[in-house]
Amino acid sequence: MQYKFSQLSELDSAILFVWARSEGENDYSNLNLDFDIATLAAEEGFKGKIGQEYVVRALSKPTGKIILVGVGTDSDLKKGSARKAGVLAIRSAKKLRATTIAISTLDGFEDEIIEGLELGNYHFDKYLTKDEDAFDGVKNVELLFAKTTAIDHPQIMAGAINYARDLVNLAPNDLYPESLAASAQEVAKFGNLECKIFDEKELEEKGFNLIMAVGKGSIHQPRLIHLTYKPQGPVTHVVGFVGKGVTFDTGGYNIKPGASMMNMHCDMGGSAAVLGAAKAIAELRPDNVEVHFIVPSAENAIANNAFKPNDIFRGYGGKTVEIHNTDAEGRLILADALAYAQEQGVETLIDLATLTGAAVVALGEYTTGLFSNDDDLVARLQYAGDASGEDLWRMPLTERLDELIDTPFADMKNVGPRWGGAITAALFLKRWVNLDAWAHLDIAGPAFTESEDPLGPKGGTGHCVATLVRFVEGLSKED
Ligand code: BES
Ligand code: ZN
Ligand code: ZN
Repeated sequence: MQYKFSQLSELDSAILFVWARSEGENDYSNLNLDFDIATLAAEEGFKGKIGQEYVVRALSKPTGKIILVGVGTDSDLKKGSARKAGVLAIRSAKKLRATTIAISTLDGFEDEIIEGLELGNYHFDKYLTKDEDAFDGVKNVELLFAKTTAIDHPQIMAGAINYARDLVNLAPNDLYPESLAASAQEVAKFGNLECKIFDEKELEEKGFNLIMAVGKGSIHQPRLIHLTYKPQGPVTHVVGFVGKGVTFDTGGYNIKPGASMMNMHCDMGGSAAVLGAAKAIAELRPDNVEVHFIVPSAENAIANNAFKPNDIFRGYGGKTVEIHNTDAEGRLILADALAYAQEQGVETLIDLATLTGAAVVALGEYTTGLFSNDDDLVARLQYAGDASGEDLWRMPLTERLDELIDTPFADMKNVGPRWGGAITAALFLKRWVNLDAWAHLDIAGPAFTESEDPLGPKGGTGHCVATLVRFVEGLSKED
């Protein structure tokens, strides 16, 4: 969308969105209306609650529609209601087929509102046969903001989230390890990041045997993607993000039943979050923090040479794993990538993965399971999550469950029993980490939505892009 700073008096006609609180004063005097919009709205039951809208047609200048959009209470605003209001405004504009809208200011929340507009305007139509009359979204926004308001941050942030959504929404016959790597390469090229892609030959040679095991049954060979952001000045923090990039998860020989296999192109949601964060960080260029973006990518398919139960492989980190279930493939590719990440000198390591159905059973579809060995890292991630409207809930790394992934035939097996499935998956990853600051985010629930979401349409959500970016920005602001 194109943005322009305007004054209300300059607009002759507009579809104007005005934000309305449910508590405290809403002063509409600067709209210069010849009727009392507050009383009229109140009479018709509009209270300014989140999700509420009130539409009037104004006859005096600016003519056109004025739409009051509820942002709720101060406490709702603290929890990100302005972002949701931005999405709602765009949804209304789309219903009206408006290509240009005007929006009023909301002191301190301008950033969130623009983020919401951009997220709400997202649609994925790559595979739809073009209809000449189809409405292609809002194009122009007149901002009734102070001309000094910075508007690049929310545009970059939402652009990165929408990029992550695109990656998830691409059909798995188009998005596979090689094409995911090509997309990462583009991000690196435009964002001036270092980029190293390991193809199947190098993976084999260097001993990434777990990535190879998961990917070898597919016609699409695996890749390991590594982008690096280096700030211009001194480096005070080195961070690694690792994202699961299973471009389709059939389950392998432990094949998923049909209903569970549907939508398993979302199994690269962790990699989408990591590459989305790479795109935003490359554009924002924060000081002091070096960031490594690492994505192991494979397709979990079935073939005569696919890996199978009872196979034993030595991972890149030097330990052996006996396969007990080929559907627990995410932790395998992550194990190799975590070992590789630690060779890059990272002090803080965060992995993101659509790892377990058990995390969705425990927390529901909207909440990320956060596992970590470091309280300070948990606090920072939750702070970044709160600022991003993303819900991260800490889960335990219950020590007693660790023995459940022991096997007499190798250093570990890749699944535990049914109970505590999200925890044993996290404990499996922990066995490959030697750092004091590690976190694992199980995003199996929130990475993908099967129905429209408060922030976007059905499909990939771009969940955790914003949290990762704000986490880095938090570190950057420290000395
Ligand atoms: N990709 C799935 C997890 C998943 C489930 C992601 C639902 C998104 C939505 C993962 O690879 C998987 O299949 N996990 C198994 C683990 C089991 C075999 C121990 C699961 O959760 O059932
Ligand atoms: Zn699986
Ligand atoms: Zn999976």
